[in-house]
Amino acid sequence: MAHIFIVGATGGVGSRLHPILTGAGHSVTALHRKPEQAEALQKAGVTPVEGNIIDMDAEALAKAMSGADAIVFSAGAAGAGKDKATKIDGDGPIKLIDAAGQAGVKRLYVVSVIPDAGRTADLGDGFEHYMAEKKRADVAVAASDLDWVLLRPGTLTDESGSGRVDLNRAVSYGDVSRDNVAAVLAELLETPAVRKEALELVDGDMPVRQAVSALERG
Ligand SMILES: NC(=O)c1ccc[n+]([C@@H]2O[C@H](COP(=O)([O-])OP(=O)(O)OC[C@H]3O[C@@H](n4cnc5c(N)ncnc54)[C@H](OP(=O)(O)O)[C@@H]3O)[C@@H](O)[C@H]2O)c1
Repeated sequence: MAHIFIVGATGGVGSRLHPILTGAGHSVTALHRKPEQAEALQKAGVTPVEGNIIDMDAEALAKAMSGADAIVFSAGAAGAGKDKATKIDGDGPIKLIDAAGQAGVKRLYVVSVIPDAGRTADLGDGFEHYMAEKKRADVAVAASDLDWVLLRPGTLTDESGSGRVDLNRAVSYGDVSRDNVAAVLAELLETPAVRKEALELVDGDMPVRQAVSALERG
């Protein structure tokens, strides 16, 4: 069984991911920024570590992830402005690369964004900045010597998960439920042979396990 360190475990995707992992017998440590989140995480069988990725340096993050086999980054600034997008969506995964090196963690899974999100609409400066920060982080992750996966979902929804997806190196842009994103992350974590991959994800027709194992077979 593995030990997974999640940044963003209290968010839409992260809060759906950790129960799948603990349910499968893995141990989960979650970085959370608000003290009042600790109790619920503990009740869910997750080890809470209080901290804010904006204020933490790589050394502090390395300490927080000590003993982990894999890291999941599903945090995000969620429209809180350009500065937060820079410090969370851009700098966050980059700090995790450094921290993983210090802590000896080899596997990093980053929830990024499908590159053609919003291309047909003018979503403004803030959105363009967010997209550029996600890309800046993706470039650093792909250049790292970790066993990384960039998971690039389409537009996230709170629809209940169909368990069926379109997951590949390139897919047509569309929506994807947060349930399905969490299910795919959990399956990827079970499938370390899928690594050094940037994968796009929308809701689709293929059961999650089959979609991941198709990638495993190349
Ligand atoms: N929205 C979309 O359509 C869309 C599309 C593609 C990709 N994405 C990406 O998908 C990922 C997951 O999205 P989501 O909907 O699950 O996000 P979310 O619900 O907004 O959750 C964000 C998580 O990040 C945490 N967080 C925020 N700032 C932090 C900080 N400074 N230090 C530590 N943790 C911090 C939040 O903690 P708190 O509980 O304390 O707030 C929360 O756990 C994000 O990376 C997002 O950019 C989103």
